[in-house]
Amino acid sequence: MSVKILAIESSCDDTSAAVLSDSKLLSNVIASQKVHESYGGVVPELASRAHQQNIIPVVHEALKQAGVGKEEIDAVAYTRGPGLMGSLMVGTSFAKGFALSRNIPLIDVNHLQGHIMAHFIEREGEESHIPPFPFLCLLVSGGNSQIVRVNSYKDMEIMGQTIDDAAGEAFDKCAKVMGLPYPGGPVIDKLAKEGNAKAFKFHKPQIEGYNYSFSGLKTSFLYTLRDHVKEDPDFIKNNLNDLCASLQSTVIEILMDKLRKAVKATGINHVAVAGGVSANSALRGAFEDHAKRFGWNIYIPKFSYTTDNAAMIGIVGYHKYLDKDFSDISLPPYSRVII
Ligand code: KG4
Repeated sequence: MSVKILAIESSCDDTSAAVLSDSKLLSNVIASQKVHESYGGVVPELASRAHQQNIIPVVHEALKQAGVGKEEIDAVAYTRGPGLMGSLMVGTSFAKGFALSRNIPLIDVNHLQGHIMAHFIEREGEESHIPPFPFLCLLVSGGNSQIVRVNSYKDMEIMGQTIDDAAGEAFDKCAKVMGLPYPGGPVIDKLAKEGNAKAFKFHKPQIEGYNYSFSGLKTSFLYTLRDHVKEDPDFIKNNLNDLCASLQSTVIEILMDKLRKAVKATGINHVAVAGGVSANSALRGAFEDHAKRFGWNIYIPKFSYTTDNAAMIGIVGYHKYLDKDFSDISLPPYSRVII
């Protein structure tokens, strides 16, 4: 008999529900919140309210698409953290209520573990490319930039992480100063395709070990704009593609320099990428280039599993279910990173 998991994700501004049968995904429904676009970033209170409106229709749709009745669900997996507290509370409360009402196990999932485990999702009719343990994962999103050594689904070691901004945050903040809409990452990715990546040089951090830093890059980007705009008020408009391409290639160089160092030091050449920024076409290109140049075995997620989704929460939930690693109904959500 297969295990049916209902998974809930509500850590930031996407309300998502998924249904899995063992490690096979049956449905993955995501309601993205448009309300934040005009504010240039996620407004926590609005996100929480939108989750409250979305959660029931989204779960309903996920069950419908999966063709699974709620009485067939064996356990509920939900994102406990990290994320925005008000957002997490909506998914957590829903998951607890569902589990209590059906008297089935509740499984708390770390959102970052979910991003990494997205590589293990299987889907009928789709070829899966699953990394063997141990592997290294570059986890890059709007809130995190980490190199994680993944020894098993529950044994993950952070080798390095950002000491200030995340890579996605650097994209979003630089996009904002150029007057581009939120989220800036996908917009920069698109504009960069027509630009010259060598047109401008920006600051690259010099920090020890495997940690990242993006705040210096952000400041150097801002100063470049400020200095040029003094001379030419239309500087941003006239150089938009080149600015995007140069910024993007600097972010990718910073990410890949440390990742190469980690591969060399560990001798692990199975290398995955995960998180919202893994949708970036140039970062995907850099992974392919490294596979050719250095013989890396690379694992790049499908676009649908790069940004926040409940399918990735469900796959962790499934493995925890097999281990009977259930959680207590009294567990509160947490907003800060713990792996
Ligand atoms: O993982 P995610 O959906 O949310 C967090 O948990 O943070 O990641 C969102 C981040 C945003 O910063 C967004 O700008 C970035 O991922 N992003 C991209 C691209 N698509 C999304 N950054 C660069 N290029 C992209 N194509």
